[in-house]
Amino acid sequence: MGLTFRRLADPLQARQMLRMKEKVHQIMSDRGGIFAGDNPFDIARLWLADAEQSEPNDPNAIALSTVDVHGMPNARMVLLKEIEANAFLFYTNYQSQKAQELDQASKAAFVVHWKSLRRQIRVRGVIEMEEGEKADAYYASRSLKSRLGAWASAQSRPLSSRASLMAEVAKITAQMGPNPDRPPFWGGYRLTPVEIEFWADGAFRLHDRFRWTRNGPQGTWTTNRLNP
Ligand SMILES: Cc1cc2nc3c(=O)[nH]c(=O)nc-3n(C[C@H](O)[C@H](O)[C@H](O)COP(=O)(O)O)c2cc1C
Repeated sequence: MGLTFRRLADPLQARQMLRMKEKVHQIMSDRGGIFAGDNPFDIARLWLADAEQSEPNDPNAIALSTVDVHGMPNARMVLLKEIEANAFLFYTNYQSQKAQELDQASKAAFVVHWKSLRRQIRVRGVIEMEEGEKADAYYASRSLKSRLGAWASAQSRPLSSRASLMAEVAKITAQMGPNPDRPPFWGGYRLTPVEIEFWADGAFRLHDRFRWTRNGPQGTWTTNRLNP
C-alpha cells in the first residue's frame, strides 16, 4: 500500500505507470485491421480513400450537425474538403443558417456513412473559421460557375423564384467577370475533434466500434472499444 502511494507521488514514476496502463489498454482493446493505427486522422483518410473506390457519388459527403440558440438540433449534408493533420475542413456561406449556428455554439458534430463499405465515422469537436489563404485557394480551384453561384446565392434565406436566382447569377457574371474574388461571406470552417468514433458493420448486428477521445483539441488520444 505504502509503496504504491510513494510510487504515485513521484511524478516521473506516475507518468511511466500511466504510459504502461495506456499500452496495456491498447493491447487489451485488440484494435487491428481497418481500425489499426495511432493517428485517427490517418485512419479517417484511409477509410475515405476506400470510399472513393466504392461509393457511386460524393464519398466525402458528411451530415453536419449543429444546434441553434434554443438548443434545437439541425443537420444537413456538406462536403468534407480536407482532412488536415488535426482537423476536418468544409466550406459554406457565412450567412447561412448553419454558419449562424456554428458561430454561436463554436461546436459541431458530423457523421458519414458509407453504404458500400458498411462503415461509419462520427466526429464531435470545436469550430473555427478558415477564411485565409486556404479558403482563397479552394475558392479559386472551383469552376467559374460555382464561384459565381457562391456570390449569387443568399444561402438559407427565402427566394421568390428560380428565375430571380438566375437573374442574380447573370448580374453577378456581368459584374465580376471571369476571375471573381472569394466573397467575404463565403469560406471554410475547421472542425477540430475531441471525439472520433470508427464503426464497422459486424455479423448479427455485433458491430465493431472504437472511440477516440481527448481532453481538448491538442490533447492526447485515448481509445476504447465500445459495445455495438
Ligand atoms: C451531397 C451534398 C453536399 C453538399 N455540400 C455542401 C457544402 O459543401 N457546402 C454547403 O454550404 N452546402 C452543401 N450542401 C447543401 C446543404 O446540405 C444545405 O442545403 C445548405 O448548405 C444550406 O444549409 P443551412 O440552411 O443549414 O445553412 C450539400 C448538399 C448535399 C446533398
